[in-house]
Amino acid sequence: MRVAAFVGSPRPDGVTDAIVRQVLGGAEDKGADSAVFHIGLLHIMGCHACMKCRETGVCILDDDMKPLFDELRKADCIILGTPIYFYYMTAQMKAFTDRLFCLIGKGFKGRLGRKKTILVVTQGADDPELFSSQIESMKKAWSMAGLDIIETVLACALESAEEVMEDEELMKKALLAGQRLTATD
Ligand SMILES: Cc1cc2nc3c(=O)[nH]c(=O)nc-3n(C[C@H](O)[C@H](O)[C@H](O)COP(=O)(O)O)c2cc1C
Repeated sequence: MRVAAFVGSPRPDGVTDAIVRQVLGGAEDKGADSAVFHIGLLHIMGCHACMKCRETGVCILDDDMKPLFDELRKADCIILGTPIYFYYMTAQMKAFTDRLFCLIGKGFKGRLGRKKTILVVTQGADDPELFSSQIESMKKAWSMAGLDIIETVLACALESAEEVMEDEELMKKALLAGQRLTATD
């Protein structure tokens, strides 16, 4: 079982990364191999809408997204992590998401198959409901590409990875989410 995690924060040691790593820890407890990709640090262009991929399934753009398509295909399960920036996912995560267009065939038929996915969202605001409609819309977007969010781990108003690790309830929730991700039922 292989789990690939994609972190959309530009801070590789930030709050989102710390929670994603705990989810991965849960998956590894159950024997999964794992890999983390910090898309916030990669060069991923927005989709150029050339529409070539409608026929071929292959994106013509030559950037850091190229190897990530293989990682998405190889993985049995996925973890997506994004901070909220201005009421939505980060720009880096949005570019990654738009590029998933080539995984959707004609008539919106998925080319990736369905992959169980855990979503990690972090936000500065302390109201856990504040971005619930935006999170629902993100889930629908990823579902179009075959990424089915089975659970969302949300963290509010935490400022550092240290604060994440001190939050026992959050750590437990993230660990259990990772264990559930790799359960084979
Ligand atoms: C450019 C920018 C925009 C942000 N916009 C929001 C926002 O709209 N709502 C919110 O609650 N927090 C917002 N935040 C705070 C982050 O979502 C929050 O600090 C998050 O936990 C950072 O995660 P990281 O440590 O993984 O980068 C913003 C932060 C930045 C840098």
